[in-house]
Amino acid sequence: MVIPRPPLALLLGFLPVTAALAQSTAADPAPALYAERYRPQYHFTPPQNWMNDPNGLVYYDGEYHLFYQYNPLGNVWGHMSWGHAVSRDLLHWTHLPVAIPEAGKLMAFSGSAVVDWPNTSGFGRDGKPPLVALYTGHVDWGDHQSQYLAYSNDHGRTWANYPDNPVLDLHLADFRDPKVMWYAPSNHWVMTVALPKEHRMCFYWSDNLKDWKLSGTFGPAGSMTGEWECPDLFRLPVAGTKQESKWVLIVNVSDGGANGGSACQYFVGEFDGSRFTPDQGVGAASVHWADYGRDFYAAASWSDVPATDGRRLWLGWMNNWKYGQAIPTSPWRSAQSLVRELGLVRDAEGWHLTQQPVREYQSLRGPEVVAPARAIPPGRLDLAPAGVRGDVLELQMVLEPGAAKEAGLTILAGGGRQTRLGYDRTKGRLFVDRTNSGEEFHPAFAGRHEAPLLLRDGRVSLHVFIDRSTVEVFAADGQVVLSEQVFAPVGANAVGLFAEGGEARLVSLSAWPLHGVWPPPPTAR
Ligand code: FRU
Repeated sequence: MVIPRPPLALLLGFLPVTAALAQSTAADPAPALYAERYRPQYHFTPPQNWMNDPNGLVYYDGEYHLFYQYNPLGNVWGHMSWGHAVSRDLLHWTHLPVAIPEAGKLMAFSGSAVVDWPNTSGFGRDGKPPLVALYTGHVDWGDHQSQYLAYSNDHGRTWANYPDNPVLDLHLADFRDPKVMWYAPSNHWVMTVALPKEHRMCFYWSDNLKDWKLSGTFGPAGSMTGEWECPDLFRLPVAGTKQESKWVLIVNVSDGGANGGSACQYFVGEFDGSRFTPDQGVGAASVHWADYGRDFYAAASWSDVPATDGRRLWLGWMNNWKYGQAIPTSPWRSAQSLVRELGLVRDAEGWHLTQQPVREYQSLRGPEVVAPARAIPPGRLDLAPAGVRGDVLELQMVLEPGAAKEAGLTILAGGGRQTRLGYDRTKGRLFVDRTNSGEEFHPAFAGRHEAPLLLRDGRVSLHVFIDRSTVEVFAADGQVVLSEQVFAPVGANAVGLFAEGGEARLVSLSAWPLHGVWPPPPTAR
């Protein structure tokens, strides 16, 4: 992509403005900035401008850091820099100035951050560990990507680039998105980094985060339609066992997802510090998708979450490269997904990653509304008489498709539009149908997106989060997830039940209006 580039002075001149914006919104109880049409109310969005991948997710000293691919100068991709926000509860995010800006011709592409507890890098100060970020330096006009190091001694508020950058350079046009972790069994750092066009992940080894040696590679495997980007690698306990755990290798693919476009696949297996050995077939026919929706990409997990918490937490960019730059939002573009807790289960079919929205979201719940169990005859039943409506809403329901061919919920309905989500019994599939959901801003946006799902005792349990322009559906205890954007007409907040081709049954339904998280809290440090 060739992006018109203003002088660096203009970029630097802009940074205090972003900081001032964060301050002024903190002082204003009802800031116009967060009241725009489509603005999610409890998902992370930047106050303004373009955002893509989450970067550098790390927990340190009471704060979750969320860095992200950010264009400080506009509302489309370009001038990639690391935007920054911090949170103490994963809900309320304080916006901070750009952490790692584009520098001259060098953009700061995706990467990760760790707390260097043993100060292996030597960048620590006053007995405190540094935060160390590894990111891809991208020279747009020279077609060159290599890995850069930056460090911070002030809780991520300011960053210094390592003078001997890059720390890893293969002189390639495509070599990006380093994810670094501490490999405890042999006390060294491991970097997983993508050779996107070769569909290969490389594992590098280091003692000090500065000198890196290749130790192994994985791929090609699984989905290879698009480029391989944004890896992650972590160990997860196996549900229902006392001691067992497995390694999960995350490989985001820029195209060719379960329902088209960018998506996130995973492999489960063993990792010995150098080599990843999958436990499953890795042919194109046995791809494991973390999320079947169109809008969950570049997912990444937090480093250094304290052992006392013990959760593996992650989120993904709620957008898709197929149409992402055209979504009808302003003055910002893109949200991050809900923060989700990861798990791993095994059944007769093999391994399944599970995702559940973190329990912290429960604190945003308003009063619970319970809709009575009932038959759902063919057609649509508005739930407003039962007190269920809204576009900032959490829903939990158990549905029996029964004799219906399809049954489920209509949401974000009004102005002649609606989004349908439900179960297709004839195909055995969960679906979100946004073919008639609202604004038609791009030919690749509308569509019906599906995921395989088996009924349990003839029932399907759905956990649904709606946030103005985002919809996330969790089924089968988080084994099946569909994340989708929807741009519905103004005031389209009706919720209903539907059945087609026969009668279905609502077994139970609870709904909670959710409180928004704006305005952002002022910075705590
Ligand atoms: C994924 C990605 C990364 C890259 C970044 C650039 O969405 O293409 O591979 O580092 O975005 O913004």
